[in-house]
Amino acid sequence: MLAKTPPMGWNSWNTFGEKINEQTIMEMADFMVDKGFLKAGYEYLVIDDCWSEKQRDKKGNLVADHEKFPNGMKYVADYVHAKGLKFGIYSCCGPLTCAGYPGSFGHEFQDAKFFAEIGVDFLKYDNCYHPSASNKLGYNRMAMALKASGREILFSACNWGNEKVWEWARSRGIHMYRSTGDIFDSFESICRLSESQKPNLGYSGTGCFNDIDMLVVGMKGKGNVGIESGCTDAQYRYHFAMWCMFMSPLMIGCDLRTISDETHALLTNKELIAINQDEEARPPIFVRDNRGQHDNTICFRHLANGEYAIAFFNPSDKDKHIMLPYYEIGLDPLCGYGFKIRDCFTGKNLGVHKEFFDVKVAAGDCRVFRAQLVKAK
Ligand code: GAL
Repeated sequence: MLAKTPPMGWNSWNTFGEKINEQTIMEMADFMVDKGFLKAGYEYLVIDDCWSEKQRDKKGNLVADHEKFPNGMKYVADYVHAKGLKFGIYSCCGPLTCAGYPGSFGHEFQDAKFFAEIGVDFLKYDNCYHPSASNKLGYNRMAMALKASGREILFSACNWGNEKVWEWARSRGIHMYRSTGDIFDSFESICRLSESQKPNLGYSGTGCFNDIDMLVVGMKGKGNVGIESGCTDAQYRYHFAMWCMFMSPLMIGCDLRTISDETHALLTNKELIAINQDEEARPPIFVRDNRGQHDNTICFRHLANGEYAIAFFNPSDKDKHIMLPYYEIGLDPLCGYGFKIRDCFTGKNLGVHKEFFDVKVAAGDCRVFRAQLVKAK
């Protein structure tokens, strides 16, 4: 089964946009393996828009850009596979992609076959220039074309949340659906996109996940979606932890060749990834929500094996003391149980906390914990 848990990988768009080529992509494959990203779970290397020639060939097939990919796309796919990674590519449900390259409208079965032949494992399918107002049919058609292609290909729909995609993506054979417009490397963008999906997370789960967009962690203002200096390390922590708690796919967007130690440690944080990849794939409860009377968010998730995740998010510009009284998650103070708690960032065991758990959370930062419910004296 594909997408049992949220898909993980790297995508070329955030950093490189149209400036992609064989050498850069192959170097990224090297870094994904050598720097431990594959081991951490990031298995898909995805080439986004701008990889093809502007014209199809005489038979109507897509052709890789001769200058960017002089040895063709199968050569790149073979290299990626030889590294133990999976290979992803991009197309669009209109006749043109968003950047004006040939899209798959009217060529769905032909393109799916071409993708299968060169060894594609993942297709990101964009939403530009499609001919009718509704595009549910276009996505359903490509889902079927991929199934008919003879290869198992993960279907990543990128329709930016149009037509309440969370309500119909699962029934159209889609494995992950972009629920938002494009992310930018700013805290404002991170908060705006993630806030917008809080009401929709109940639809997300095994086989079909809500994709809040690719990560900007570590971009630091560089690249294709950079904004001035980007975000602080604390804000990137907030971003990554939120994507993990929300079960969003984790598609890295920064240049892996130049990342800092902090970025590397964050993107490969085992505890946070384990929450994102929890096999029960249950969406979070919002105990507190900064969309209402509060200026912070407390997020609680049921995990496999009787464990729980608790996360505190402080988007404000002031340090905060935040408390979770357990009656807010339905536990009576006299019930005789407390939470045995471990900090997911420091790995420290914090012992058993009864009746409530309170933490300090710095401005624009978060704290994330793994908890077990235990009998408490
Ligand atoms: C946008 C999409 C981006 C990127 C871009 C390529 O529509 O949301 O993630 O794929 O197109 O042109």
